[in-house]
Amino acid sequence: MKVIEAKNYADLSRKAANIISAQVILKPDAVLGLATGSTPVGTYKQLIEWYNKGDIDFSLTKTINLDEYVGLTPDNEQSYRYFMNHNLFDHINIDKKNTNVPNGTAPDMEAECLRYDALIKSLGGIDLQLLGIGHNGHIGFNEPGQAFEKTTHIVTLGESTIEANARFFGSKDEVPKQAITMGIKSIMQAKKLLLIANGRDKEDIVNKALYGAVTPAIPASILQIHPDLTVIYCYE
Ligand code: GLP
Repeated sequence: MKVIEAKNYADLSRKAANIISAQVILKPDAVLGLATGSTPVGTYKQLIEWYNKGDIDFSLTKTINLDEYVGLTPDNEQSYRYFMNHNLFDHINIDKKNTNVPNGTAPDMEAECLRYDALIKSLGGIDLQLLGIGHNGHIGFNEPGQAFEKTTHIVTLGESTIEANARFFGSKDEVPKQAITMGIKSIMQAKKLLLIANGRDKEDIVNKALYGAVTPAIPASILQIHPDLTVIYCYE
């Protein structure tokens, strides 16, 4: 595990973008696992800036996102598909056909979970997975208490996650109660992991996750045993 302290959010974003761009330069057809939330926004902005300067080419790159809310269509501004298009895909030369986000409105959500697992497999696995962390230690939408062995599945969101994400919605009641998420097993199978955490409010959970006991009560704690984990944090 490599743990890097960033000077500030801009520094964190540049460092994370550097690691992602190195991956794409070394392997242009890399499979990037991507994340949503406020933390990666700066990383995506930085990648767009370097793309505009001609430094990175995403024409062969494939992406696979961690999660999506159940019930939100791709054109819903709160959906993670919308977030990814708006914050990254619309601004770089990636082929949208090569970008993947779980379908939150699939008629059969169990079948959608199986499709997503098969997709990860057919892409040859994930080369580099970017991760944020929730205040309760969730990664993707893997909430505390869920088995580490899970692949893509449907989750009922915890109260603290609904509260934390209410800021993006009109009110708490509008936050979907369920999500589809890549499981911990799928995340742990990625060749490299990059966890980013920003803000004083993340310090406690990151310390518990990285240096405490490995327990399903803190989903991110399993990351300690991944052979290639990089953590970049800034608690200013
Ligand atoms: C959401 C996402 C997670 C993300 C977390 C933290 O719940 N499903 O993937 O890591 O929020 O978000 P933020 O970066 O806004 O703190």
